[in-house]
This record gives sequence, C-alpha cells and structure tokens, in this order.
Amino acid sequence: MQGKAELKTAKLPQIRTELPGPKASEIVRLDEKFVSPSYTRSYPLVVASGKGAMLEDVDGNIFLDFNGGVAVCATGHAHPRVVDAIKKQAEEFIHISGTDYYYRHLPQLAERLSRLAPGDFDKRVHFGNSGAEAVEGAVKLAIYATKRPKLIGFFGAFHGRTLGALSLTGSKAKQRSGFGAQALDVTHVPYANCYRCPYNMTTETCGAKEEKGPHCARVIEEQLFKTTVPPEECAAIVVEPIQGEGGYVVPPASFLHTIRRIADKYGIMVIADEVQSGMGRTGKMFASEHFDFVPDIMSLAKGIASGIPLGATVAKADVMNWGPGAHASTFGGNPVAIAASLVTIDLLEESLMENAARIGQFLLDGLNELKKKHQIIGDVRGKGLMIGIELVRDRQTKEPAPDVMLQTEIELFKRGVIVQGCGTSTVRLSPPLVIDQEQAAFMLKTLDEVLSV
Ligand SMILES: Cc1ncc(COP(=O)(O)O)c(C=O)c1O
Repeated sequence: MQGKAELKTAKLPQIRTELPGPKASEIVRLDEKFVSPSYTRSYPLVVASGKGAMLEDVDGNIFLDFNGGVAVCATGHAHPRVVDAIKKQAEEFIHISGTDYYYRHLPQLAERLSRLAPGDFDKRVHFGNSGAEAVEGAVKLAIYATKRPKLIGFFGAFHGRTLGALSLTGSKAKQRSGFGAQALDVTHVPYANCYRCPYNMTTETCGAKEEKGPHCARVIEEQLFKTTVPPEECAAIVVEPIQGEGGYVVPPASFLHTIRRIADKYGIMVIADEVQSGMGRTGKMFASEHFDFVPDIMSLAKGIASGIPLGATVAKADVMNWGPGAHASTFGGNPVAIAASLVTIDLLEESLMENAARIGQFLLDGLNELKKKHQIIGDVRGKGLMIGIELVRDRQTKEPAPDVMLQTEIELFKRGVIVQGCGTSTVRLSPPLVIDQEQAAFMLKTLDEVLSV
C-alpha cells in the first residue's frame, strides 16, 4: 500500500532491489513454465501498478516508462478520467455486441473518428479489437470494394501477426518462419528509409524534391506494375505513414504523395496503417496529417483507448459499403473500450497532443546534442513522441549495432528507464503522452550515462 502512495507522487525512478527482485523472479519463473515462449521480452519488468508515466514493479521499484505499453498508454497509466469512464461503463453494462445490437457510444465514437480522420468526405468505421484486426478489416474491405486480389506492402513494415496481417508484415524473417505459405498475395517494395536509402540515392538525386516523386515510390508503377503486379489486379497499397516496428522511419512527404498519385491513376486503395503512429502520438491526431496525406482507409488501435483493447478501420463511406454479415467481430467496439476511447480523445485534444509535440521537440533537440557526443548514434528521427535513435557501429558504413541496442535497453532498465528497441538497432521512445520536461531531461541524462559506459 505504501508503494502505491509513493507511486502517486513519484516523477523519477527509484530502484531498491536487484533486478529482477525476488517477487519478480518468482513470476518470471511461472511465466516461463506456462506462457507461450513466442513472446519477446528483453528484460524482466514485472509490473504491479502504474500512474502517469511511472510504473511500479512487484518488488517496489519505480520506473519511468518511455515505452507506454508499446505506444498504447497515450493518456498515461490509470488516468483518473479514463478509469472513471471505464468504471461507469462497467457499472452500466459491459457487453451486448455492437454487431447485433445498438448502444449510444458506438455511433458516437464512429462519428468522432470520422470527423477526425484526414479527408473532407463522409466516412464509416468498423470496430475490432486489435491492430492486426484493424489492418485485416482494411485489407478485406479494399479487396471487397475493388474486387481485386493483390496488395503492395513495404519491407520493414509491421502490420500484425494474424495470418492475413502477417502476409503484409515485412519486418523480420522469424515472424514468418515455419508458418508456410502466406494467406494474401502481397508484393513488398523498399520503404523510403532515407538514412539507409535502399537504392543508394539521396533526396537530391531520387526525385523526392521533384514533381515525379522519389524513386522508391515510383518503382511501384515503373517496375511492379510491369512485372509482378498488374495494376488492374491490385486492390491496395498498405503503408505506415511513419514506419513503426521497422525502426521509426520518417519518409519524405513526397513518398506518400507519389503513392497517392499512383493509386489514384489505377483505381487502387491507399490504406494507412496508423496503429502505432495515430492517436496523438506524433503531436497531431494522425501522422498522415504531417504530410497532408489522405488515405482511403485507415487502421487504428494501440493508443485509441488508453490500453483497453480496441481497433478501428476508418474508410470513405462509399468504400465501406459492404452488406450485413460481410465483416464483424463479437467483441469489436466493446462499450467499455469505447467509453475509454471517447475520454482518451478528449484528453488528447485538451492538452496531450500539444504536450507530445512540445516534449517531443525537447527530446529531439536533446538527442541531437547527444549525437554530437556519441559516435554510436547514427541517426535521430521522429515526430512528437514517436522517436527513434538508430545505433551504428560506424557512422560511415552505418553498420547496425543490435547488441549495443539490447545492452542499452538493459542498462536503462537497471537505471529505472523503460525503453524498447525497434528495427535492427534503433532505440524507440514511445512514452505516455503525459511525460513532462523533467522526465524527458532525466531520460536524456540517463541515456548519456549509459552510452558513456
Ligand atoms: C503499425 C502497426 N500495425 C499493426 C500492428 C499490430 O497490432 P496488434 O499487435 O494490436 O495486433 C502493430 C503493432 O505493433 C503496428 O505497429
């Protein structure tokens, strides 16, 4: 109990035991025996409670959370207004299945997301329970609406691990290894990773600054459509406006605009997967807005309901015109999740998006200073509180340093700061959007310390 009181006021970490402590070790042992070994844990954080940007483990150690439950806890841990909304809804009713009956919040949230999503046209929303489901809904809809079977995705993309979403994921071989043929007909092309241009070009030479757009987007029309993907058979191009699991890669706006232009020319849907980049994380409600990018269909999840499982597929109303029974999910749009989502959006609009933009800039400035001091930092990039720090062995060769990334995660954990890697050797910062400047400064100081060892 005393621990909980302390957590309420704590703003910075307090590490009191060896990590993992005795209680944490016991839970890890039980987990190892009974839980699927497919989960990927880099270090043994065993959470007992959370408040704002702080977490307390089962042994009374307090951590500063720069991961936010993998970019999910947008409003921080246990925000009182989110907790109240969840409690109130649970007392009214917990479930009735929005696919078969009606309740007031389902159209309320659908209307709100429709108005918020980019694009000055009517939209409709389908609710699911996760990011993968939101992506599958989007892809199913695109195939249905276009009556075409093929899809285009990007290397480095992560769209989930269910069989349909997995076909689109182009992130790590181990995610596919052993699972046989892919369910969907997807062709992957390189993403616009300008730090590591897949074509050895620069933004000066690739066309990114010209009307025609960058080479990496043009290959879709100039190569793919002439070889493996006849455009009249292509239903959708599926793209993360900022690549998440692939390394927090920010493309030039012209990459997304060129995709839009090519898709329009051939009647292909553009699906923006904003599962990780959406819901205020980048300082705007959706990352697409940074680039004036308007998709036909958008997938949302993660931060949408502050940690209660919820996914949403938002589409142009005239695209989402499938009939009853074409797509649905028993739990999708559960009333408790929707109540949490409505208040989450209130909080994002009231102050958290603005905080994400401001603290994000503070962190980017600080990290760029650290880059001057630490040769291991090859690149710092991001928008708002979606920030990647790519570690390289050598700035010239840009050889990735995955072992240093893992060691950095572990050393930060030992000092009470929770981060996670992404891509091959990028440290990602995806904290709750409530993080303040003192906490951001502590993170910078601790990272400096860890990289100096
Ligand atoms: C961009 C993106 N799409 C989809 C997913 C899959 O989401 P979930 O794990 O909720 O199925 C993720 C998860 O990291 C993601 O980052």
